[in-house]
Amino acid sequence: MQHTAFVTGGRGKTGRSVLELLSGDPVLAAYGGTSRRAVQRDGLVAFDWHDPSGWRSAVAGADRIFLMRPDLDDAPDLVRQLLDMVADAHVVLLSEQGAGALASGDWARRVEEELVTRARHWTILRPSWFLQSLVEPRDFPHGILVDGVLRLPAGAAPIAWVDVRDIAAVAAEILRDPEMHDRAAYTVTGPDAVTDAQIAAELSAALGTPVHAQEPSAAILEGDEMLRSMSDLFARARSGVFAEVTDTVEQLGGRPPISLDAFVAEHRDSFATSPA
Ligand SMILES: NC(=O)c1ccc[n+]([C@@H]2O[C@H](COP(=O)([O-])OP(=O)(O)OC[C@H]3O[C@@H](n4cnc5c(N)ncnc54)[C@H](OP(=O)(O)O)[C@@H]3O)[C@@H](O)[C@H]2O)c1
Repeated sequence: MQHTAFVTGGRGKTGRSVLELLSGDPVLAAYGGTSRRAVQRDGLVAFDWHDPSGWRSAVAGADRIFLMRPDLDDAPDLVRQLLDMVADAHVVLLSEQGAGALASGDWARRVEEELVTRARHWTILRPSWFLQSLVEPRDFPHGILVDGVLRLPAGAAPIAWVDVRDIAAVAAEILRDPEMHDRAAYTVTGPDAVTDAQIAAELSAALGTPVHAQEPSAAILEGDEMLRSMSDLFARARSGVFAEVTDTVEQLGGRPPISLDAFVAEHRDSFATSPA
């Protein structure tokens, strides 16, 4: 039987990579959703979390769903509404590392709870922080590498940074063969947990210029709305929540996870052109 996967956030870092990996798959057809109606091409269909009237046609025919929870306050409610429409599908939720240990009223935990109570078949992916965020200005709008200073808001605690391509490899494997992973939750990490000082040392070596780590000032953290809204996340980082390393990528993705040094080498030019 031919199966079909619908990938929310089909233009996002993870969703795009999932679609690439499933492109041309002999047993699993895959298509993605985008909130941008003007760019419905490459198999992307309209799917806007703010417009539930379009969801049913977007998911019609899909028996597997890659669910990138939207970073919206009402995500638990939105996810519940969507899950009620796809009750029989196997849903792979992109959550976050440590979500299972959060208090039950916490936003990320509530999204997971909607999944496990509403979906008949599900798998939770709990990735650590994305390496791609290091080179994505949108994720850290204050600029993380400025004048040779690496300004990561995680304090000195190590983080098991993971490449989105590895998360996508795990997701694609589960979407292809979901029965084996039904009602399972996987923490998805890179090969090591590294401190910001270790990242700075890696950047120094790659760029051939001194880089040192220094936490962003309170003025920076409090002066930006998005950073303010992430203060709980940063506090959890400082408490070491994102330091656990797992072998999920190797076990499910079939290859060793991409390391920090490999990522830095690959993206050397992006780091070199960070705002001065
Ligand atoms: N960054 C990290 O370190 C990290 C770590 C753990 C977990 N996470 C979680 O991972 C998820 C983000 O994944 P990502 O980084 O792969 O995504 P991303 O690159 O940030 O892309 C966001 C996606 O969300 C879509 N989107 C935005 N508004 C939308 C709307 N109203 N309706 C429908 N789609 C909408 C965008 O689609 P269009 O472009 O089509 O609008 C885009 O595809 C979030 O749930 C985040 O909390 C992130």
